Amino acid sequence: MDRKYNHGKKASLFDFIKKDSSIDTSAKDFNSVLSMHLEREIDPLSWILGHNFNKRHFELFEDVGQIYELQLAKMEYETLKENLELFKKRTAYFKLVNGEKSYHYFISMVKGKGQIGHTNQYLTHWFYPYKGKFHGQMIKAIINFIGASGEDIILDPFMGSGTTLIEASVVGTKSVGIEINPALSIVSQIKLDSLKINYPEFSENIKVSDLPRIFKYFRDAREYLNERKWEIEANNQNAKDILIELWENHFQNSFIKDYPLEWRNLLLLIYLHALSDYTYLKGTNKERSFEEFFRINFSEYSMTLNSAYKTFKQLNIIPKECTILLGSAMNLPLENNSVKGVVTSPPYSIALDYVRNDLHLLNYLGIDTRRLRKEMVGLKGKKMEKLRMYEEDIRKSVEEMYRVLRKEGWAAIVLGDVVVNGKRTDFCKKIMEWAPEIGFVDAYAMKRPILGGFARLRYEYVLFLQK
Ligand SMILES: C[S@@+](CC[C@H](N)C(=O)[O-])C[C@H]1O[C@@H](n2cnc3c(N)ncnc32)[C@H](O)[C@@H]1O
Repeated sequence: MDRKYNHGKKASLFDFIKKDSSIDTSAKDFNSVLSMHLEREIDPLSWILGHNFNKRHFELFEDVGQIYELQLAKMEYETLKENLELFKKRTAYFKLVNGEKSYHYFISMVKGKGQIGHTNQYLTHWFYPYKGKFHGQMIKAIINFIGASGEDIILDPFMGSGTTLIEASVVGTKSVGIEINPALSIVSQIKLDSLKINYPEFSENIKVSDLPRIFKYFRDAREYLNERKWEIEANNQNAKDILIELWENHFQNSFIKDYPLEWRNLLLLIYLHALSDYTYLKGTNKERSFEEFFRINFSEYSMTLNSAYKTFKQLNIIPKECTILLGSAMNLPLENNSVKGVVTSPPYSIALDYVRNDLHLLNYLGIDTRRLRKEMVGLKGKKMEKLRMYEEDIRKSVEEMYRVLRKEGWAAIVLGDVVVNGKRTDFCKKIMEWAPEIGFVDAYAMKRPILGGFARLRYEYVLFLQK
């Protein structure tokens, strides 16, 4: 599976690994060879940095130990090593760079619910409990490896809850997210806009004592929203415009409309988060009343926003602009050769019903789900036909990634081969086989173990394809 090929036209991504002559890069299971090599070597830091620096001045985060993490740490380092000041600002896996704490150290201190170490759920990543988010830390390292910055565009054509865009925005590179589900397009837009909220102003104007009437407003809105069934087509509308339309034509008029749009949106997201908690935690020992969830989430969101505001100020971070469009990964609204890198994760085969997953959210907003079922990858068709349609869609989406990528740009696709009808799917292998047919000049599959398990999945892959 860990197949690599390279047409020899240009230097490959893994040249720096290959240069280490003690590693047999032609071995079939390259990851195990690498793993054995690292165990022998014992000191991952030397492997990553070479012997160029005083190792006492560099330190990985204490929980960085998986092989894929070390590989990514080396990859991000190789791209950015000429400028250690920049590396300190951008690294995902280093705690200490040249004797100074990295920015990720401070950023991952902006704590969120469900956070594990420095890997995930920090900043606004944890806002809204969407199933299937990938880890921000890993995405940051991939963006670093791709070498995107400033006006370069990082694209996520299966954006989900916006993890890629949050990371791109915080390291200071432009990004575009495409998502077929209107509810998720607005959730992600709000998560990104929340990074820019001036917390002191927000907290001065919205008090805990205002919460009962705000909660009541959103609860009463349900009926109002459902009277206006929303059949939004995915026509590449901007999520910002969808939010404006939502407030103008779907929510009832009230005191809440006097708040700035960003605050209203944030309160809506807190309500949607509470709705999700209330739906999923019913009957468990974490059950609470809907209003209580709303109150708790408000106070936890506030803590995150306060801490993000202070941290960004301290580090002088101004999140870079991003664009979220309600569209399809199979028909990207982007020019040929226009993006520097793609970082994405399509639905893992037909295993998860993304409409059912977020039905409470879609129903609340009054969004018609029939169209979604017809357009969502992995949900189209019946029984056996479903897998075939999934395969066609994934192939088409990889072709689209190729089309919009700039020459030498990388697409990083995170995907797991889940079990469907008792059989393990093999779409990772298929993508690796399609890659040269589509035109990619290099491809590499990096294995990533999954702790916790989804659909009997013990590991997934990050597929790196270079145009
Ligand atoms: C695995 S999730 C992505 C999760 C994301 N990486 C995150 O961190 O939140 C896949 C997403 O693809 C979306 N999707 C499905 N079909 C799509 C299509 N045709 N075009 C764009 N997005 C689509 C689904 O709605 C879902 O949100």
